[in-house]
Amino acid sequence: MNIAVVGTGYVGLVTGVSLSDVGHTVTCIDIDNEKILKMKQGISPIYEPGLSDMMTRNIHEGRLHFTSDHQEGFESAEVIYIAVGTPEREDGSADLSFVEQVAKDIAFHAIRNTVVVTKSTVPVGTNDKIQSIIDESLVQQVNLEVVSNPEFLKEGSAIYDSFNGDRIVIGANSKEAANILEEINKPFGVPVFKTDIKSAEMIKYASNAFLATKISFINEISNICERLGANVEDVANGMGMDKRIGDKFLNAGIGYGGSCFPKDTKALIQIAGNVEYEFELLKGVVKVNQKQQGLLLAKLNERIPDLTGKRIAVLGLAFKPNTDDMREAASLVVTENLIYSGAEVMAYDPVAIDNAKKILNDDVRYASCVEDAVKNSDATLILTEWDEVRNVDLDVFKSMNYPLVIDGRNCFELEEMKDNNIEYHSVGRPVQNHKVKHRQSI
Ligand code: UDX
Repeated sequence: MNIAVVGTGYVGLVTGVSLSDVGHTVTCIDIDNEKILKMKQGISPIYEPGLSDMMTRNIHEGRLHFTSDHQEGFESAEVIYIAVGTPEREDGSADLSFVEQVAKDIAFHAIRNTVVVTKSTVPVGTNDKIQSIIDESLVQQVNLEVVSNPEFLKEGSAIYDSFNGDRIVIGANSKEAANILEEINKPFGVPVFKTDIKSAEMIKYASNAFLATKISFINEISNICERLGANVEDVANGMGMDKRIGDKFLNAGIGYGGSCFPKDTKALIQIAGNVEYEFELLKGVVKVNQKQQGLLLAKLNERIPDLTGKRIAVLGLAFKPNTDDMREAASLVVTENLIYSGAEVMAYDPVAIDNAKKILNDDVRYASCVEDAVKNSDATLILTEWDEVRNVDLDVFKSMNYPLVIDGRNCFELEEMKDNNIEYHSVGRPVQNHKVKHRQSI
């Protein structure tokens, strides 16, 4: 099949590259010419394991092309994917102006019957709106049919997920259009679920909202565990053995971040509100997540009430491991508050430092490895569970002014921290080597 993908952000690029890898001829279109020139050379604008190699291979084999010219991109396309951003507006709703503009562009250039696939996450009812915009803007007498095909990839494992996903959801008004999409996706070998357009749109929001709910739920349980002296990891393991609950997404931590959960939960609250329904449960989920992002700071403040001049090591800046994405990362809240409190922040992340420099307060300093970040610090905060952090030699914490580690991701075993005389505060687990009296001396 000849396929065009509009938008080379995270979703668009991964979609285009993996479709070319299973044999389709794909042209990725983006208005950012500089980005297009780089991608033509196989340089990926995002850090995603395996993506650059797959890009380079398919460019060389002639199946993957890039252009900033819509007409050129649409020329031979039988199927066009819309994968542009739907950023969050101030009121939490999704800004659809990019999607609507692409719909107009597609209609303007259309010269043959085409299936238009919406990958972008859009509120329920948007695909019908896109269909109307296209129908109103068509120049030639052709038939364009809109299909909803929401994205479920996770950052950091997107290529793996493309070939090992749990399902591909196709929402269409006609069997013909649904079958075309099913055929395109056959080589991935992932189960397909076909439904109507509105239900497909809702599946995406409901799935993300449910996963966010699982995270906020276990975070609440972890806060109670801390007060009662229970261990949230054991609680989650015991819960997860019940197949009805499942053992995934029960890791307590400092709350969810990233490009999807924070945006989509708020958007679903809006979507419900628009039909006069108050989604009370989801409002709670969002509130719990905000509270959870402040957890490490609260623990640090309890141990070191005055942070003025204190050197604080921050390990991990990305919203999760294996990505350089900083969107809605807890590190934004944490570093900003540390700087505001007068602390000296020395941060380390294996891949997100370039992105961090564009966003974080100029006062944040950056180390080139875990060891340099931690050395001579008064406390170490762990924000992202990178393998490099998990596997660090615990002796590194002996180079601190005092070995106080506050871990938002439960990277270490309690026993090993205890045996190494490290004061260790984690999430939902008993504190190790707690030296309350020490507070005065640091
Ligand atoms: C998510 C969805 O998983 C994916 O299906 C959708 O397409 C996009 O949104 P992503 O944002 O890439 O993917 O990351 P994910 O691995 O789901 O993690 C999201 C956030 O939740 C991260 O900040 C992560 O640290 C946090 N999380 C996840 C937890 O705190 N605990 C968990 O148990 C799992």
